[in-house]
Amino acid sequence: MLNIVIFGAPGSGKGTQSQKLIDKYHLMHISTGDILRSEIENRTELGKHAAKFMNRGKLVPDEMVIDILHELFIHKPAKVGYILDGFPRTLEQGRALDDMLQRENENIKVVLSLEVDEAVLTERLIKRGEISGRNDDTAETIKSRLQVYNRQTAPLKEYYATQDKLVNINGMGTIDEIFTRIEKVVDRLDY
Ligand code: AP5
Ligand code: MG
Repeated sequence: MLNIVIFGAPGSGKGTQSQKLIDKYHLMHISTGDILRSEIENRTELGKHAAKFMNRGKLVPDEMVIDILHELFIHKPAKVGYILDGFPRTLEQGRALDDMLQRENENIKVVLSLEVDEAVLTERLIKRGEISGRNDDTAETIKSRLQVYNRQTAPLKEYYATQDKLVNINGMGTIDEIFTRIEKVVDRLDY
């Protein structure tokens, strides 16, 4: 299967590029952020708990997102592969993901890390906040999300580099320019 992790800081274009990957390669999109936001919208217990972290730009507890992934893998197995967007975000999540896939004799084929300057990230998110009003797209929360990314999530790059799976992608330019860079990497993969 073609299992891809799309990795990067808040605003790096994970969601945007995932959509293009789904259209071209027919992958199943798993965005833990989208799942958590829909739990909040539906006012579930899980959503209420998650909102406390998300509104401050902090990560929700590992156990919570790992459980969500676990359920999805069991009940909605992908046919062609998964595109993981916003998961894993900690080393513990990375290890849990490897375990879950290994149980199905599967693995991650590549980790695409979208590299974008912090000033550009902030600009994109502020702009989105003015239009769509995602709760966490405020100047203060964006700052906290970027700090959390640098401290807790970016170290995963080393984890995947050691496994020889990390590919850095220049995440600046137009959406199509970036996707062309991604296609070149994915089309070279064996799956
Ligand atoms: P999540 O929903 O994953 O948000 P995020 O990582 O902060 O990233 P975004 O969704 O804001 O950005 P993106 O990289 O998808 O970029 P996008 O394509 O939208 O997580 C939200 C929260 O949920 C977390 O803070 C945490 O609390 C919790 N959470 C989620 N997963 C978790 C986990 N595994 N563990 C623990 N907690 C978890 O693009 C951004 C904007 O830029 C858009 O407006 C877009 O139109 C624009 N844009 C995209 N590409 C370009 C381009 N090339 N040029 C110009 N503009 C562009
Ligand atoms: Mg996103």
